[in-house]
Amino acid sequence: KEEKLWGGRFEENVTDAVERFTESVSYDKNLYKHDIMGSRAHAAMLAHQGLICDSDRDIIFKGLDEIEKSIEAGKFVWRADREDVHMNIEAALTDLIGEPAKKLHTARSRNDQVLTDFRLWCRDAIDMILGHIKHLQVALVTLATKNEGLIVPGYTHLQRAQPVLLQHLVLSYVEQLERDASRLVDCKVRLNFCPLGACALAGTGLPIDRFMTSDALGFTAPMRNSIDAVSDRDFVLEFLSANSITAIHLSRLGEEWVLWASEEFGFLNPSDAVSTGSSIMPQKKNPDPMELVRGKSARIVGDLVTVLVLCKGLPHAYNRDLQEDKEPLFDSVKTIIGMLEVTAEFAQNITFNRERIQKSLPAGHLDATTLADYLVKKGVPFRTSHDIAGRSVASCVSKNCQLSDLTLDELRSINPAQNVLLISWAFGLPSFASTNRSLSCCMHLGEARGRSREGITEEH
Ligand code: ARG
Repeated sequence: KEEKLWGGRFEENVTDAVERFTESVSYDKNLYKHDIMGSRAHAAMLAHQGLICDSDRDIIFKGLDEIEKSIEAGKFVWRADREDVHMNIEAALTDLIGEPAKKLHTARSRNDQVLTDFRLWCRDAIDMILGHIKHLQVALVTLATKNEGLIVPGYTHLQRAQPVLLQHLVLSYVEQLERDASRLVDCKVRLNFCPLGACALAGTGLPIDRFMTSDALGFTAPMRNSIDAVSDRDFVLEFLSANSITAIHLSRLGEEWVLWASEEFGFLNPSDAVSTGSSIMPQKKNPDPMELVRGKSARIVGDLVTVLVLCKGLPHAYNRDLQEDKEPLFDSVKTIIGMLEVTAEFAQNITFNRERIQKSLPAGHLDATTLADYLVKKGVPFRTSHDIAGRSVASCVSKNCQLSDLTLDELRSINPAQNVLLISWAFGLPSFASTNRSLSCCMHLGEARGRSREGITEEH
């Protein structure tokens, strides 16, 4: 067996079970690009500071180039006995170029190296997610635009509340995604500091230049405290938290679309391209992608909880437990990207069942608040108008009819003191039955567009 890079003080090899249990290369090889990037910057700094000579630096550069190419060509052999991505690359470099490779780890520990790699990786991952969020926002805005003017029932407590425009509802998700993106941008600003030079935890007595490596890698500045630099995983937690919030937003959208695609609602038709069938029930067409968006949010929250609990009892500086921070974040990033992608695709492949939605609008007394507000505009205190509208609804419920179906006598009996006003409601407002609830819907339409309500609500 090959001697470990840290093997000097050891007389025995680790057992196979320990090797299998402690290796991380099977997944941290994901960091190879950033590991090589970090090593290039580190070697350049070492040469600039006279800690290695320029020719060694150039040989290291060439060796790293070759290793990068062989990884990208799928030819590089990752070895579990070399533990992690860092030692795989360093040992392969030694195989390739010999002595100069042994100088690369001067004034560096895997503890600051892994965090440099991971922060660089997070930076790129955040940029990628931001692109996917934008793409979904565009898909949602396109969906809203395609359905401009479509009025749908708005719900609170999943009970019919007030009519809203579909675009009003769809754009609410766009707003949430905008905040999701800004959380990621914040996270990137906070994580963009360079741990290199912290070494194991105590920094180094060698004359390194931490600003040079930090600048070369595009960090804002070196981290100020070396113990913090190797202890900190709050950038991981922050990234996982931001993803969790995005995932929950997408899950809620998923729930809404799954519900709307049901026979009971029947508001939305996903195309075949985003639906799947049943192996037993021939008639089934299920909105699986959005069910899985809802479902996969669970693992993203789980990833966050994993790292929270991982960090909970750890004393400061590096502990091997921290190797367990990577898989949850890799999983979280891969999963959120899939969720964003498929939600955008779903949005591009649904149509709304206008007829069904229109037919459904009369149910549920969506115009009760409009009636109450109408009376307020005529000078009735809101509590009184709420009460009148409430009694009117109760009367409708007992008669199994709509507010607009109540006769003048029925309205009169509700609150004799407000007779005149109720008469003008009964006669002055366009009947919802005949206008598809155009009045109250138009009020919301006006609000959603941010337009003036003039000419929309004042027709009575
Ligand atoms: N593979 C390790 C990790 O991901 C790298 C750091 C190991 N450091 C050490 N002293 N064992 O955390």
